[in-house]
Amino acid sequence: MRLRTCLLGFLALFVPGKCSYSPEPDQQRMLPPGWVSLGRVDSEEELSLTFALRQQNVERLSELVQAVSDPGSPRYVGGLHRFPPTSSLRQRPEPEVSGTVGLHLGVTPTVIRQRYNLTAQDVGSGTTNNSQACAQFLEQYFHDSDLAEFMRLFGGNFAHQASVARVVGQQGRGRAGIEASLDVEYLMSAGANISTWVYSSPGRHESQEPFLQWLLLLSNESALPHVHTVSYGDDEDSLSSAYIQRVNTELMKAAARGLTLLFASGDSGAGCWSVSGRHQFRPSFPASSPYVTTVGGTSFQNPFRVTNEIVDYISGGGFSNVFPQPSYQEEAVAQFLSSSPHLPPSSYFNASGRAYPDVAALSDGYWVVSNSVPIPWVSGTSASTPVFGGVLSLINEHRILSGRPPLGFLNPRLYQQRGAGLFDVTHGCHESCLNEEVQGQGFCSGPGWDPVTGWGTPNFPALLKTLINP
Ligand SMILES: *[C@@H]1O[C@H](CO)[C@@H](O)[C@H](O)[C@H]1NC(C)=O
Ligand SMILES: *[C@@H]1O[C@H](CO)[C@@H](O)[C@H](O)[C@H]1NC(C)=O
Ligand SMILES: *[C@@H]1O[C@H](CO)[C@@H](O)[C@H](O)[C@H]1NC(C)=O
Ligand SMILES: *[C@@H]1O[C@H](CO)[C@@H](O)[C@H](O)[C@H]1NC(C)=O
Ligand SMILES: *[C@@H]1O[C@H](CO)[C@@H](O)[C@H](O)[C@H]1NC(C)=O
Repeated sequence: MRLRTCLLGFLALFVPGKCSYSPEPDQQRMLPPGWVSLGRVDSEEELSLTFALRQQNVERLSELVQAVSDPGSPRYVGGLHRFPPTSSLRQRPEPEVSGTVGLHLGVTPTVIRQRYNLTAQDVGSGTTNNSQACAQFLEQYFHDSDLAEFMRLFGGNFAHQASVARVVGQQGRGRAGIEASLDVEYLMSAGANISTWVYSSPGRHESQEPFLQWLLLLSNESALPHVHTVSYGDDEDSLSSAYIQRVNTELMKAAARGLTLLFASGDSGAGCWSVSGRHQFRPSFPASSPYVTTVGGTSFQNPFRVTNEIVDYISGGGFSNVFPQPSYQEEAVAQFLSSSPHLPPSSYFNASGRAYPDVAALSDGYWVVSNSVPIPWVSGTSASTPVFGGVLSLINEHRILSGRPPLGFLNPRLYQQRGAGLFDVTHGCHESCLNEEVQGQGFCSGPGWDPVTGWGTPNFPALLKTLINP
C-alpha cells in the first residue's frame, strides 16, 4: 500500500441557509467536492485576514529575474557580497566503483546517497554560513527525537547535524506529522551536515493562504537559507487568479533575491478533471510557477536494488493553464512535443503553458521515523523534493567555499545546460484520466526533458562539475 503524503486545504467562510459564500469573482459558487459547510463561524472565533496590495512594476521584476539567473548575463554574480573564506576546498577522492549492488528493503539515506553518488566526504563542512530549509503547513510538526532515531537506524556513515538549527514560526506541541518528519529527515540526509531550518506556518483555522503567509515571512527577513523545499500544492483551478498571481509575484521576488525554491510536482500524475463534460489534465500550483524549480518522482527499475530509475507513475507533471511558457524552456518543450511517440490528445493539455517538472528524484518506498515509529514505504514527490534540495545545498557549499554566490533560481541555467549532470529517466509514463480515450495514461518520459521527470535525477559529482562555475 502506498502512503501519499501531500495534503492541502483551502479555508472558506460559509453563510448557512442561502447555500452561498463569497468567493473571488472567478471562483465557482458551488461547494467544491470534498468540502462541507459547517455553518456560520462563531462570532467569538478569531480570524486573521491577509490584505495584499496590488503591486507596481511587476514586469520590471521579471526582467531582473531573467538577468540575475542567466550565467551569461553580467548581473549573474551580483557584485561582491562577501570575501571568500580562507579555508580551501577539500579534495574529493575518486568515487569507488563497486561491482556488486546489494538488496535493500526500502529507500533510506544510505540508498539515496549511493544512488546519487554521494560519498562520506559530500557533507557540509561546518565552516560556511550555508543553510537550507523546508516549509511546513497545516499542523505538520517534526520532533528532533525522531530525527535522532532515524539517523541511528538509517544514518549510515555520513556526518549529519543532530537537530534542526532553527524553527521560524510556531511548532505546535502535538504529534509529529509524517510529511514534516519526512522533509526534515531527508533534507538533512541529502544535504547532510548543513544547518537546517523549518518554517512552520500552522493555523488551518487562522489563515486562508498558507503560501502567502510563508512567503511574506521570507520577504521580511534579510538573512535566510539559500534553498527552500515545499512539499505542498493545490490544483490550479481551485485557486482564484488574483491569489495565484499574488503568490507568483512573491515567488518571482524570491528568485530575484537569489533564493532557490523547490516545489513537489504533485502525486496524481497529469491529474484529471472534467470541464463542461470533457476530460482534461489538471495542473498544480505552485508547481506550475515559472519561478520555482519543480521536482518529479522516480522508482527503481528493480525496487529492491539500487538500479536505474524509471518513472514513478504518480509523478506530477504537465502544462499550466495560467502561466505562459517561460522562454528558458521553449526549446526543450518543443523538442519533447515534436518527438514523444505517446502524446495524449491535445485537448487534454495547454501546450503553450509553463511545463513542469524541471527535475526529479526517487519518490517511492521511503523509510520515515515519526512519533518514534519507523514507517516503511512512504512515497510521493514530497520525498523527492527535500532530497533534491539537499543535493543543491551541497553544491552551494562548494560554491560558497570557492567564493561564489549560491545557485539562486536554477531553471534558466538548468535548461541552458540541457540537464547536464542529471541522470536522464527515459522509461515509463505517469497516470491521468481513467477513461477510454487515454486509459489512465498521461505523458511518457523520453530522452531529454519531459513533463514527467524533467531533465532527470542528480548524479552528484557530475552535477557539481556543471554547477560549480561561474
Ligand atoms: C560537520 O559540521 C561540523 C560543524 O557543524 C564540523 O565541525 C564537522 O567537521 C563537519 N563534518 C565534516 C565531516 O565535515
Ligand atoms: C517583520 O519583521 C519585523 C521585525 O522583526 C516584525 O516586527 C514583524 O512582525 C514582521 N512581519 C511579519 C509579517 O512577519
Ligand atoms: C549567517 O550567520 C549569521 C550570524 O553569523 C546569522 O545571524 C544568520 O542567520 C546566518 N544566515 C544563515 C542563512 O544561516
Ligand atoms: C492556456 O494557457 C495560456 C497561458 O499560457 C492561458 O492564457 C490560456 O487561458 C490557457 N487556456 C486554457 C484553455 O486554459
Ligand atoms: C552514479 O554513478 C554510476 C557509476 O558511474 C552511474 O552508473 C550512475 O548512473 C550514477 N547515478 C546517477 C543518478 O546518475
